[in-house]
Amino acid sequence: MHLHVADHPLIAHKLTALRDQFTDSARFRQLTEELVMLLAYEATRSVSIEDKEISTPVSTFTGTKLAEPRPIVVPILRAGLGMLDGMLRILPTAEVGFLGMVRDETTFEPSAYADRLPDDLTGRQIFVVDPMLATGGTLAMAIDFLLARGARDVTAVCLVSAPEGVRRIEADYSDSAEVKIYTAALDEKLNEKGYIVPGLGDAGDRMYG
Ligand code: PRP
Repeated sequence: MHLHVADHPLIAHKLTALRDQFTDSARFRQLTEELVMLLAYEATRSVSIEDKEISTPVSTFTGTKLAEPRPIVVPILRAGLGMLDGMLRILPTAEVGFLGMVRDETTFEPSAYADRLPDDLTGRQIFVVDPMLATGGTLAMAIDFLLARGARDVTAVCLVSAPEGVRRIEADYSDSAEVKIYTAALDEKLNEKGYIVPGLGDAGDRMYG
């Protein structure tokens, strides 16, 4: 598994504003979109491309276009929905699949309540978006859904991740070179309530609550 932790002053600046408890919902959603666009630039570094022949006003030119089949962006509802627009600004031709998942606040076990993914993901590049990677249970369940449908190239784009969640994904997919995590920050730990510390609270509530 490949882990990439962003190291960019603009990301650090925006993420600090996002973490601030006094940042309201409207600003939180706007910052999330801006952060996703910055992260997506790195996370799409290995997106598949192919040659494209064009003519400039001066000469012919062999350029580049995104390869078919198109990549798929998968937001994990609810909070991941707030990252979808930012991803689609960078990948406007991407297909979108949806997973609805919620974590039990006592056991931390995730359960899936919505699955609107294409049936066959063979050969597709998938970008899963979810702001929080806490215990890793939700992301692991999402990855299992995707791998079961033939996906072999899954990149998770997260804003804040806990070491516990990263270790869980590393352990579960240690042999899977195809699983990557791009996160804006790797935080200190989880607290007893399963919240990331210092974190940013409950991303879904802060966006939509
Ligand atoms: C949050 C978050 C992740 C999950 C992370 O969602 O958006 O999906 O928890 O936790 P985990 O790594 O321990 O599984 P939540 O269950 O609060 O649902 P919501 O997005 O609807 O608020």
